[in-house]
Amino acid sequence: MSEKIAFIGTGMMGGAIVRSLVKGGYSGKIVAADFMADKLKQLEALGVAVTSDNREAAAEADIVFVCVKPGDLEKVLTQISKDVKGKLLVSSAATVPIWFLKKQVPQAKVVRIMPNVAALVQASYTAFCCDADVTEGDKQKIRGILDMMGVCEEIDEKYMDAITGLSGSGPGYLSIIAEALTYAGLKVGLPRGIAEKAAAQNMLGTAKLIMELQEQPAKIRDMVTTPGGTTIEAIYELEGSEVRQALMRAVEQATKKSALIREKICPEDKR
Ligand SMILES: NC(=O)c1ccc[n+]([C@@H]2O[C@H](COP(=O)([O-])OP(=O)(O)OC[C@H]3O[C@@H](n4cnc5c(N)ncnc54)[C@H](OP(=O)(O)O)[C@@H]3O)[C@@H](O)[C@H]2O)c1
Repeated sequence: MSEKIAFIGTGMMGGAIVRSLVKGGYSGKIVAADFMADKLKQLEALGVAVTSDNREAAAEADIVFVCVKPGDLEKVLTQISKDVKGKLLVSSAATVPIWFLKKQVPQAKVVRIMPNVAALVQASYTAFCCDADVTEGDKQKIRGILDMMGVCEEIDEKYMDAITGLSGSGPGYLSIIAEALTYAGLKVGLPRGIAEKAAAQNMLGTAKLIMELQEQPAKIRDMVTTPGGTTIEAIYELEGSEVRQALMRAVEQATKKSALIREKICPEDKR
């Protein structure tokens, strides 16, 4: 791929996507625009072209990623509307639906994505959905970019809040589990460095077992659970602690919050 890609907003998410493309050796030109000169300087050091002018970045690109907070989106889209005519406009904003994006940039082809911060290490799960003007050829280009950030999957837009709740916020939940396991290691006498590494590598290894062996998590659990052994003692404790319910409630609350934020930023009566 050699399309020129512009990024408007290079904070946590925009910066992570740019870095994953640079790491992946993206062959096209990348231009980054932001308010924050320090963020641009860091990206410039990686070989990325930078500007503080959103319109200039959008005008010279073939594909424009907008990675600003949901509340800043309307202003940015209005500003670059004329510069994205006929181009792919990709929004990473949580909660903001395609109809709202399309209203601000009616002449662009709109893609809504929900990545997570693991894009920084090219391990994001990124869901995307598209407006009706996006062609199969466009989708191939988008997949090519999103696959450099990890893995991607096209989904129905109706699932976007749930994906935000499960996966966009997911590194937050799993960090708590990694931290809890580290503390568990400390409790049974492990040095902190060993406990941290063992906990994190266990999460990575378990994810790889599920993904690469294409096995249900329950099968992986059974692979390490022997009669009268150590694992079943631990599982007995876990089953009594409502850890499953806690995670289900957490994702449910995040999903509901996504819908609530949308009602504020783009209420249906703005349609
Ligand atoms: N962080 C995540 O884990 C995550 C995951 C999935 C999706 N997302 C989505 O990704 C988007 C960005 O999130 P984030 O966490 O990366 O936010 P962030 O760290 O605040 O980054 C946004 C960046 O855009 C800049 N910005 C704001 N208004 C601008 C404008 N008019 N022109 C140019 N730059 C502008 C901000 O500068 P200032 O700081 O000066 O305002 C900031 O550097 C959000 O819509 C969020 O829903 C985030």
